[in-house]
Amino acid sequence: MAWKKVAEKDAVAPGKGREFVVDGKRIAVFNQDGFHALDSVCVHQDGSLAPGKLDGDIVECPLHFWHYNIKTGELMDYIKGVKLQTYNVEVKKDGIYLDV
Ligand code: FES
Repeated sequence: MAWKKVAEKDAVAPGKGREFVVDGKRIAVFNQDGFHALDSVCVHQDGSLAPGKLDGDIVECPLHFWHYNIKTGELMDYIKGVKLQTYNVEVKKDGIYLDV
């Protein structure tokens, strides 16, 4: 793992998510109750979670509405034990950094 700058610090609006491609990985960064990052690709049919609707810690996949916890990566519906990879995020003066 190594820290990488992915964006300027205001690149993700409060209450929103945005997808970044880092080393070929699609990662969603959410600005909701702090910053959280997890793999952006839904395990159902590869929808991007980044534009999904947020309700507290839960994001809804825009394609068919499966739900994930943005802090743990855990899928909340249908299949037990599925977890997307999460990443540490740090917001510094000069940008948003991910440990990828
Ligand atoms: S692709 Fe995410 S719910 Fe279908």
